[in-house]
Amino acid sequence: MINLVEEATSTNDLALEHRHGAGHGACWVADRQTKGRGRREVGGERRQWFSPAGSNIYMSVLLRPEMEPESATPITLAAGLGVADALVEETGLDIWLKWPNDLFVGERKLGGVLTEAAIDDGELDAIICGLGLNINISADEVPDELSDIMTSVAIESGRQADRLRLVFEVRRRLVERCDAFAGGGIEAILEDLRSYDRTAGRRVEISRDGEWVDGTSKGIGDRGQLTVEVDGQVTDVQAGEVRFPEL
Ligand code: BTN
Repeated sequence: MINLVEEATSTNDLALEHRHGAGHGACWVADRQTKGRGRREVGGERRQWFSPAGSNIYMSVLLRPEMEPESATPITLAAGLGVADALVEETGLDIWLKWPNDLFVGERKLGGVLTEAAIDDGELDAIICGLGLNINISADEVPDELSDIMTSVAIESGRQADRLRLVFEVRRRLVERCDAFAGGGIEAILEDLRSYDRTAGRRVEISRDGEWVDGTSKGIGDRGQLTVEVDGQVTDVQAGEVRFPEL
């Protein structure tokens, strides 16, 4: 079921509010958001997600994967993979995934995923994948402070895309990848995840004892984690402990 609305504070809020009785793959889409949420900056504030009307995609997909909740965390990687599959297929753009699941074209961000857990009485009820995808916004409409870091399908391809068609395809491929992960674990998606990774060899900073330490990404490890070399030692890092200073 896909629910379309003109305005929402955040489509993740819509999904949270309406999730009871909604099945795996249910989806909420808004033309604009008044309080779109980005992921939290490492150690800092949550960023607002730029969400003007009439141009981009703001959608949230509800997932009820058939798996133990404690194994579900990497599902956010599968979600990013599904979104990348759909956008590559539909737009032909050279999209890559900055671990864990930011969509990039070249050095600019095309979209991001905010995964939130819906908890009832201490139990996981559902996982909500919120997707912010820059589609038809033109370079003129991008605020100055974002112009060096964000891009859109239209900016990259020179063409306007059919947003509704993209919503259907993104939802379909996201659910497909998340189901593959729930059924087969990380092995079911690892090779494809790695094929979208271009972080290997790039400079990263990891948080250690309250300080940022320089390292080099060694790419995605066997459990879907990012591996980083610091002072000759390779360590695994979690999403909240890594930043890419050049991106
Ligand atoms: C990021 O910071 O990279 C994640 C951004 C996620 C934005 C989307 S837009 C739809 C959904 N609703 C929100 O409030 N956030 C997500």
